[in-house]
Amino acid sequence: MLNARNKSTNLIGIFLLSVVALLIFQYIIVMLLEVQNLNAGLEDGKQILNDLNIKIGSGEIHALMGPNGAGKSSLGNTLMGNPVYQIKGGKILFKDTDITEYSTDKRARLGMFMSFQSPLEVPGISLEAFIRASIQQKTGEHVKLFQFQKELKRCMELLDMNPEYAKRDLNVGFSGGERKKAEILQLLMLKPDFAILDETDSGLDVDAVRFVAKGIAEYRKMTNGSLLIITHTTKILEGLPIDYTHVLVKGHIVKTGDGELFHQINEKGFEEFVK
Ligand SMILES: Nc1ncnc2c1ncn2[C@@H]1O[C@H](COP(=O)(O)OP(=O)(O)OP(=O)(O)O)[C@@H](O)[C@H]1O
Ligand SMILES: [Mg+2]
Repeated sequence: MLNARNKSTNLIGIFLLSVVALLIFQYIIVMLLEVQNLNAGLEDGKQILNDLNIKIGSGEIHALMGPNGAGKSSLGNTLMGNPVYQIKGGKILFKDTDITEYSTDKRARLGMFMSFQSPLEVPGISLEAFIRASIQQKTGEHVKLFQFQKELKRCMELLDMNPEYAKRDLNVGFSGGERKKAEILQLLMLKPDFAILDETDSGLDVDAVRFVAKGIAEYRKMTNGSLLIITHTTKILEGLPIDYTHVLVKGHIVKTGDGELFHQINEKGFEEFVK
């Protein structure tokens, strides 16, 4: 009788331990990015991000909204380690590693990527050479030219890009829309685990938005990577399941909701959050 009771106590103990182990395991595997109490600003002392917290799991899509000047691009830049934005407090964890002090290239090697709101012209390096060098730097392996060019051609076709752009200097003389497509081309070729898309849809005509959205869907199909999408419109998100929507006001996340919140804000604006 006593033996049977001991046995069942042991079984319950083992069960509870397994549940705890499973929860810890799930947390480590599922949580990709965790930003804790982040405070950041400029060298001159201007504070932009205030006590900001955000958690992004593997395969999740998060939308980040907020009025102009709220700090959305600054958050993206700070996450990517742009030295203009100085971290004054808090932590950034990526893949369970504290990357708060990491340089941008180290973050990119770990699997982070950002598509810029205003991509810069880089004379002297072609779009193709830039992407190939980035992949080589990221993986540390030689990228075979034939396979690379085949994949580049496929991705450019998918984005409805003229193949001649591969040979042109990065963004030099590109129109606003062409630059945004070049950013998504880099996303498709680099296949990061986590991508921040900063207003990739702004300045695009109706057809270009459709191709960019197709590119994002292809990225998800290939990698199931996580996304933080900064946008003011729904167009780019069509067909993408949004897991969470965050509202950023004055450098602080004032509200987090599901995909429905995104559509609500799109209809009613930010008024109720900006007080
Ligand atoms: N490098 C910088 N130098 C000076 N001020 C900056 C810099 N970066 C950001 N700021 C300031 O910080 C605030 C937040 O800017 P940020 O570009 O992050 O806003 P945003 O939410 O992305 O706005 P938008 O929707 O217009 O793109 C603004 O007041 C901006 O002027
Ligand atoms: Mg911005």
